[in-house]
Amino acid sequence: MKKPVIVISQQLPEIVEARFMRDYDARLNPSIKLYDKEKLLQLCKGADGIAVSIGDKIDADFIERLPESVHIISAFSAGFEHIDIKAASMRKIAVTNTPEILTNATADIAMLLLLGAARRAVEGDKMVRSGEWTGWNPTQLLGVQVTGKRLGILGMGSIGQAVAKRARAFDMTIHYHNRHRLPPELELGAVWHETAESLLYKSDFLSLHCPATPETVGFLDEKHISMLPDRAVVINTSRGTVVKDDDLIAALKSGKLAAAGLDVYDGEPNLNPEYRKLLNCFLLPHIGSASTETRNAMGFLIADNFDAFFAGNPLLTPVN
Ligand code: DGY
Repeated sequence: MKKPVIVISQQLPEIVEARFMRDYDARLNPSIKLYDKEKLLQLCKGADGIAVSIGDKIDADFIERLPESVHIISAFSAGFEHIDIKAASMRKIAVTNTPEILTNATADIAMLLLLGAARRAVEGDKMVRSGEWTGWNPTQLLGVQVTGKRLGILGMGSIGQAVAKRARAFDMTIHYHNRHRLPPELELGAVWHETAESLLYKSDFLSLHCPATPETVGFLDEKHISMLPDRAVVINTSRGTVVKDDDLIAALKSGKLAAAGLDVYDGEPNLNPEYRKLLNCFLLPHIGSASTETRNAMGFLIADNFDAFFAGNPLLTPVN
């Protein structure tokens, strides 16, 4: 029987590519570099499905121009703001993503950023590597104590909850804002705030875990930063567009905020260059889900969705 033809827009972990090659007529990308739009469209000729990365802009025009043969688009990510879901649905193209399986890896990175930003890891690392370190002294690199502080979580989905779980081990008090209050067995004593604003006033640390939607884009602006306690620490592992970069940078420069830990950036990888100059910013290159186990699991979930789709079974993680 003829195997379905699938296009993979970016190089995937080896073990995942091996499965695609075994089960599909797979058009792999041998490079970590994304194809440009025209090239990707060209590769989709005669394809049944495509797997896309967060860097691919799957907008209405792209979807419109996809060949009739393409019936499924699978995102190699939990977030799917780079795909025009409405346009896909109009053309009856199924869309899937990879939620839940990256929860722990992403929560781990949020904690790394929280600790590293609070305790000035960037400056410490630089001091040791440069040879500028002259020895222990009582006032060197004094940071923000984590233990016992209040952690505000904006967006209490599975990643927010996993961060809360880790933070409890640091005796942090958990506050959160979510559209819906969690049931007690998930809330686990965390304090729910009906509004994001009320959460900000209580957040010595603020960790962002909301998707990028018209409601959240640009949320962390000057007005909202001013509601945070002085010397608060901001962590972002969600999407860069949730933050207004100029306002966050100004607050980091003025000392209103003690530090920030960022894994995601508006316009990434072309982040606002001012971030690079700020030593109170702990910067990572969007590696929230980047553990071998998690990236393999994400790839296998895409394969499971393709398998289900082409066998006529229900999708495991449908978006539309
Ligand atoms: C996602 O899945 O949305 C992350 O940002 C990348 O793993």
